[in-house]
Amino acid sequence: MTTLGILGAGQAGSTLARAAVAAGYDVVLANSRGPETLVEISCQLGSRASAASVEDAAAAADFAFIGFPYTPSHRLPDDELAGKVVIDNNNYMVWRDGNFPVVDSGLKTVHELRQEQLPRSTIVKAFSHVQFHARFEVRTPRDREPALLRLARPAGAPDRKALVVSSDDLAAVELVTRFYDDLGYDAVDNSPLSESWRSAPGTPMWRRSIDGQNREELIRNLERAAHPGAHG
Ligand SMILES: NC(=O)c1ccc[n+]([C@@H]2O[C@H](COP(=O)([O-])OP(=O)(O)OC[C@H]3O[C@@H](n4cnc5c(N)ncnc54)[C@H](OP(=O)(O)O)[C@@H]3O)[C@@H](O)[C@H]2O)c1
Repeated sequence: MTTLGILGAGQAGSTLARAAVAAGYDVVLANSRGPETLVEISCQLGSRASAASVEDAAAAADFAFIGFPYTPSHRLPDDELAGKVVIDNNNYMVWRDGNFPVVDSGLKTVHELRQEQLPRSTIVKAFSHVQFHARFEVRTPRDREPALLRLARPAGAPDRKALVVSSDDLAAVELVTRFYDDLGYDAVDNSPLSESWRSAPGTPMWRRSIDGQNREELIRNLERAAHPGAHG
């Protein structure tokens, strides 16, 4: 049994928990307010889900998911996450997070900053360009499902979509590729982390996050991205 530790059980974290449980993973959910605030959601998810402190969720995890934005002052459970793959789905949003000149200039990606924050873990950027909420424009009843669930398809389906994975570590890319497959997605490897600006907010592939894109479209859209340093 594989356990996914979800640190930050908001819109993204709780939806990922739902998808992971349906795919046969155990999940341990955490937030900054304590496990007692997550009893309801973990009960709804069933026996494969539980709630814990951030430290205990990180310790229980075979791999982890950080479902909150990057903040330089964060104190993350680095001992408990040491040696583990940590998925970072953050999108750098200046209006929400403030601005980091080193990211704006293209010198580093926000995911490299997260890697510096957790030097003993292996950061993987993934899931940052699939919506964890309903489609804003509801055309059919299925549009009320979060896109992560609505767009999922079994392997080989003609309309299967693909998601991006970026890391400095091949084994971590392989782990997330298997996880994507279990959740109903193909993967496109856009490594290393320093290349992950290609899937940042506003890029051609990111603008296709509502209804997704297949592997070929995703590869083409990643190639079309303009480096942030090119903006001056
Ligand atoms: N929502 C989407 O569709 C979507 C899509 C792609 C990427 N993302 C990315 O996913 C991340 C989360 O977005 P969201 O929409 O899920 O936000 P959200 O609904 O606000 O969820 C964030 C959660 O993280 C928890 N949290 C905050 N700081 C924490 C900490 N230090 N330790 C543990 N838990 C903490 C918060 O709960 P407490 O306040 O109780 O701790 C909250 O439940 C963002 O980086 C966003 O860019 C979101």
